Order: sequence, then structure tokens, then C-alpha cells
Amino acid sequence: MIIIKNRITNFSLAVFLLTVFMSCSNGQKTVPQQEGLKDYFKGRFLIGTALSDDQILGKDSLALDFVARHFNSITAENAMKWERIHPEPGVYSFGKADSMVDYGQRNNMFIVGHCLLWHSQTPKWVFEDSLGKPLTREALLQRLKEHIFTVVGRYKGKVGGWDVVNEAIGDDGMMRKSKWLEIIGEDFVQKAFEYAREADPKAELYYNDYNIELKGKREGVIKLIKDLQAKGIKVDAVGIQGHWHLDSPDLNEIEESFRAYAALGLKIMITEFEVNVIPEPTGIVGAEISQRADYQEKMNPYPVSFPDSMQQVLAKRYAALFDLFLKYQDNVSRVTFWGVQDGNSWKNNWPIPGRKNYPLLFDRNYEPKPAYQAVIETVKKAPVKQ
Ligand code: XIL
Repeated sequence: MIIIKNRITNFSLAVFLLTVFMSCSNGQKTVPQQEGLKDYFKGRFLIGTALSDDQILGKDSLALDFVARHFNSITAENAMKWERIHPEPGVYSFGKADSMVDYGQRNNMFIVGHCLLWHSQTPKWVFEDSLGKPLTREALLQRLKEHIFTVVGRYKGKVGGWDVVNEAIGDDGMMRKSKWLEIIGEDFVQKAFEYAREADPKAELYYNDYNIELKGKREGVIKLIKDLQAKGIKVDAVGIQGHWHLDSPDLNEIEESFRAYAALGLKIMITEFEVNVIPEPTGIVGAEISQRADYQEKMNPYPVSFPDSMQQVLAKRYAALFDLFLKYQDNVSRVTFWGVQDGNSWKNNWPIPGRKNYPLLFDRNYEPKPAYQAVIETVKKAPVKQ
């Protein structure tokens, strides 16, 4: 055995030397790919981003090369949601999702499927029969199963992990009131996980939600996951969306949630990360899609550019968050930003349309912001993962 191993090693060395010799002898130098954010985090956790439709379609000419340099995981911002991938009964629209998956595979990326079951961006017909009457529990389960089998089945072995259920818990920690709950009952979550597991036994399966680092909602998620585990359903990771702000949530709350989820044996992922830098209307904390507010000038404090002093505040906040992620690097397996650069962020238009936000690490010209450097400094000084 040892002899065989040594032979292989000697053979590999010979091939390596030959390659070096050949590349020198024909005068060609191998140009190393420029280092990007993901490279600094090698051996710690994956660094992901969401891709918009335009980026997937290559309409944003700079985006795809830039993404390949900085990120090793991708999620479709919209292209795999029910209303997009399965817009009408019996009609699937896989074009954009296929392109994204091809791109991810070509670039050796970890591809995340977002999302199989959600109350939002799901057409009304999903819950109705052909006469517009509410479906029965059995019929809706059948529809859900068909959807999950078709979508997960198509990307079996290509998509590495799925947000199986998105946002099933309300801010009060109880099950969110939705058509899924109303028609199927509480076990819709269990069923979705069962179908996804059957459709691709090797894919990781996640529960994904916002504000689940905060006490009330966190307790609801812990109960949900424990109930699933008691029924023999394996949830591989919890996705904490991470739609966060300069001054909230408190780092202690996040840390507490990391401990609580890790204690359940879950991996932890920050799945839709950004740090909002402009004011939120009163009462909006998190990412409840249905909440909207009208435009007001005073709510758009940096309509031209983001001041240097604020860049520093953002850099500090990002550094503190990444210090925490790195402290829990044994549990945190991925950090995905919700957008590539500031111009792509949904936070320019939600919950107030038409504002200018600066929540990501790269500016609208794809230039790294001071926050980018600050994040890299955190990993340079963090103890190596054992
Ligand atoms: C957002 C997208 O970024 C927008 O483009 C879209 O208009 C609405 O949805 N929680 C989620 C994400 O799980 O899918 C949402 O994405 C943001 C909140």
C-alpha cells in the first residue's frame, strides 16, 4: 500500500516538474488568477453572492468574471422562486436557472437553490383548483411534491444545497399564517423536507429565515427544528438571512443564536447578507417582503455618494460581524451576500422604492470599499481553523 502511495507521489512530482519545465521552455508563464475575497476565506467558510437575472443572462458585462474572482458560491436572487421557475400549472421555465447552474459548475462553485417553499413570490394558482376554489390538503401536498421533484430532480448532483422552506415562522415565534399552513397544516415543513430528501438524497437541506437571531423568533425556529428532528427529519443547516443594519442586531444576540443552532447539530449559514446604511421606517426590522413605505427625501440621506466617515462606520460593523463569524468558523459554513455590488442590492428599493443604499463590500463601479479591506484584515488575524 505504502509503495503504491509513494509511486503515485513520485509520479505526481514528475508530472508537476514536467509541467513547470514545459511552461518555462515555451516561454509562457502561468498567470495566477487574481486573489479575491473567497481566497482569503479558504479553509474557513464559503463566500457566496446572489445573482440577479441580468447577471445570469450576462447583460451585466463585468459581473460574471468579477463574481468568479471573489465568490465560490452562488444563489439565484429570483430565478428559482416558484413564480419564476413554475409560473403556470404544468409550465416550467428553466432557462435562467439552467444558465446559472452551468456558470456555477464551470467555475467550481457551490450552488444554492433558493427556494422550494415560500409564502411570497408564489403564484395564487398554486393554492387553487382549476375553478379557483381552494385546494384540499392532499391536492396541495401533491402539487408541492411534483414541484419539488421536478425542480430538485433537474439539478440533482449540481445544486449542493436547497433552502427547502423559507420564512415559515412569524416574529412572535409561532408558525406564520400562510396558505401553506392554512391548507396543509403545520406538517407542510416536514413534508417539504421529505420530498426534497427523496428527490436528491445527497443535497444539503436548509431552513432559511430572517430575524431568527432574535430571541422570540429564534425560539420558534428551535422548536420547529427539534420537532422535525424528533420525527427523524434531518435539517442540515439553518440559514440566517442576515438582512442587518449598522447598529442592529446586537452582536450578543447573533452569538447566542449561533450557540443555540450549533447545539442542535446544525451548520450555520448567513444566506442573504448585507448591512443597510440608510434609515428604516419605524417598525420595519428584518425582511418582511409585504411591508412597504412611501418615498420621503429625509429617508434617502446619501442620494449622491456615501461619505468617507460613513464608509469607516460600515467597515467597523462589517469587521465586527466577520470577527464573530470567524469565532464560530467551526459552525459557520457559508456567508452569502445578497448582491454583488451596491447597485445590485434589493435594499435600494425595499422597503422604500428609489433610494440609494450602500450595503455591500463593493461599490457601483465594482471597486472594493474600505469595508472590503476591513473584512480581509479580520481573517488575516483570525486563528487558523483546526
Ligand atoms: C428579494 C429579491 O432580492 C428581490 O429582487 C425581489 O423583488 C424580492 O425578493 N428574503 C428572501 C429573498 O428570502 O428571496 C428576498 O429577495 C429578500 C428577503
